[in-house]
Amino acid sequence: MASVDFDLDEWSAAHLVQVEQALQRWIDPEAPAGLGQAMRYAALDGGKRLRPLLVLAASEAAGGNPQAGLRAACAVELIHAYSLVHDDMPCMDNDVLRRGKPTVHVQFGQAQALLAGDALQALAFELLAPDDGSVSANITARLCRLLARAAGYHGMAGGQAIDLASVGCALTQAQLQTMHRLKTGALLQASVMLGAACADLVENEHATTALAEYGAALGLAFQVVDDILDVTADSATLGKTAGKDVAHDKPTYVALLGLDPAQQYAQALLAQALRALDSSGLPDTRSLKALADKVVNREK
Ligand code: IPE
Ligand code: IPE
Ligand code: MG
Ligand code: MG
Ligand code: MG
Repeated sequence: MASVDFDLDEWSAAHLVQVEQALQRWIDPEAPAGLGQAMRYAALDGGKRLRPLLVLAASEAAGGNPQAGLRAACAVELIHAYSLVHDDMPCMDNDVLRRGKPTVHVQFGQAQALLAGDALQALAFELLAPDDGSVSANITARLCRLLARAAGYHGMAGGQAIDLASVGCALTQAQLQTMHRLKTGALLQASVMLGAACADLVENEHATTALAEYGAALGLAFQVVDDILDVTADSATLGKTAGKDVAHDKPTYVALLGLDPAQQYAQALLAQALRALDSSGLPDTRSLKALADKVVNREK
């Protein structure tokens, strides 16, 4: 599916060098009373970094300010890392394994995990608003608004609330879709829109709408595949505990539709994401296409 003249691994490696260096630099090991170590444990060294890659791909496709792009890429990863720390806590999914390591609360205690999540979230917004003139006030405001909406009750936090309220419930497909779009889709779609917002693409309504459609389809597909992998992959491959959704009686696409239809649905969402890109009018969407393909056809 991915374009033959585009090597996603090579592209990703080149772009992630900057992201990893920036995260290393921006997450202060000297944060008080061990908090810096817990934050770094949560955010560095691990993870597929799909969200930062989406930001950078969208920013490049739209001709964005590279400094804004790097900041937005790191900011969304910090929000994601914070969401994982809290998601794993005993009051939520009660997980002990994440990115192949003990979860943050197992390693540092629950109070430190809570604070590490809080501090990562705040740091994300600090990164979006540099005071060195490298990012315009307009772009800064747009980035903050997009990320705040996607992280808060309109997005991730709202979806997580639905997730916890839905344990043991038989949701309709429409309800499950809403939950997935919020808890996971919103941050992935926001990654794309953050990239676009690093350029003045808002002027180009057609391309902005197409990217929003791409991000929505890709974001939902991502969580459908997460549900599938929970059933089909093992913990060593995933770096997190497999089989948790059934054990915790979580509503998932596999539980609702069955495995094969869930896989077909993910492929249909991929096709929808690619169609949206084709209609965007953007000159080079190869990295975005390859990332969508990776999201749906991944093994972990
Ligand atoms: C896992 O996200 C949590 C969900 C939102 C389903 P990822 O699969 O992107 O996790 P990392 O960042 O690679 O660890
Ligand atoms: C988590 O969904 C979504 C978040 C906002 C973190 P899951 O609970 O399915 O994620 P995993 O499977 O633990 O990574
Ligand atoms: Mg969860
Ligand atoms: Mg979980
Ligand atoms: Mg899951």
